[in-house]
Amino acid sequence: MAFKLQQPLTFKSTSSFTFPRSHSLRSSNRIIMASALGITSKEIPNGKKPYMPPREVHIQKTHSMPPQKIEIFKSLENWAEGNILVHLKPVEKCWQPQDFLPDPASEGFEEQVKELRERTKEIPDDYFVVLVGDMITEEALPTYQTMLNTLDGVRDETGASLSSWAIWTRAWTAEENRHGDLLNKYLYLSGRVDMKKLEKTIQYLIGSGMDPQTENNPYLGFIYTSFQERATFISHGNTARLAKEHGDLKLAQVCGIIAADEKRHETAYTKIVEKLFEIDPDDTIVALADMMRKKISMPAHLMYDGEDENLFEHYSSVAQRIGVYTAKDYADILEFLVERWNVAKLTGLSGEGHKAQDFVCGLAPRIRKLEERAQARAKQASLVPFSWIFGKQLTV
Ligand SMILES: [Fe+2]
Ligand SMILES: [Fe+2]
Repeated sequence: MAFKLQQPLTFKSTSSFTFPRSHSLRSSNRIIMASALGITSKEIPNGKKPYMPPREVHIQKTHSMPPQKIEIFKSLENWAEGNILVHLKPVEKCWQPQDFLPDPASEGFEEQVKELRERTKEIPDDYFVVLVGDMITEEALPTYQTMLNTLDGVRDETGASLSSWAIWTRAWTAEENRHGDLLNKYLYLSGRVDMKKLEKTIQYLIGSGMDPQTENNPYLGFIYTSFQERATFISHGNTARLAKEHGDLKLAQVCGIIAADEKRHETAYTKIVEKLFEIDPDDTIVALADMMRKKISMPAHLMYDGEDENLFEHYSSVAQRIGVYTAKDYADILEFLVERWNVAKLTGLSGEGHKAQDFVCGLAPRIRKLEERAQARAKQASLVPFSWIFGKQLTV
């Protein structure tokens, strides 16, 4: 096994509140992983610690849904065909990245690239770091398709299954694939970012995978995707708004058109959970409470560029500062979903169901209060270099 040499492994505690799932265990995780592999410092050349790409640190739980519940999802196949697949857009009606990019086969290509670069010239680095983080998150799409195919009862059993759930997952993936593609090409043409560092970050991130703690359980899985689609809808909407403020109307259009896709996906996933609330309110509210207790992890929380061990935290901090995605958004999403699924009005629940209902309904205000307190004792801002923008430093 070849080890790349890297900076020493130390436990860094992080005090700033950025996204609800903290990253602070990463460094300690590397120590855990190193010792689990039986590696001691003696075996490392030059006394340096081994390189360890980011990994999940929690205990990974599997198959928490009782097997008999798989039948629920089998029986919803026709319902999904009539109610969920309708939220996909036929390919012929979909936009493609090329609709928003200079046409390399046209005479005016070079001129169009020049115009793009003129438009992006005045956009601040803060914005670019956040757009890069958003692009990298989108580019880790293989991880999200994998995650959907971990779910019992709805996974794509063959890779080309004709079940409604599998058709949805493949078509959803195909729609999502345009997002990273478009943002990646736009960033490439802008000349504002270090493409190789971005590409390395994507490779690391896909290699890290992710376990959003959905336990092969489609109740948990579809709650997670409902939350995430809304989170991406909000953040792409905000990068659209900021691009407009910075004078790049094309980039605003790019982010806006991606946000519109996310909204459509949010509609589909929230409809699935709404259906689960209708047919199995007890287990659905317990699942929602469970997901919220564990906190919704951000899909790119294991992000790493080979340099910054707290890259996700730093990117999140800039996103929070410029208002692209904030802790307030997390509470707002929860509140929106609680309202969307009529959680407060559920009746006939078991004792456990009632407890879960009370917990979920009181959670958003509690998160907001915690956030206010965290803001009040926030650490002093510091400057951190981002490899994505050629090591230029930004306030985090
Ligand atoms: Fe997306
Ligand atoms: Fe999405």
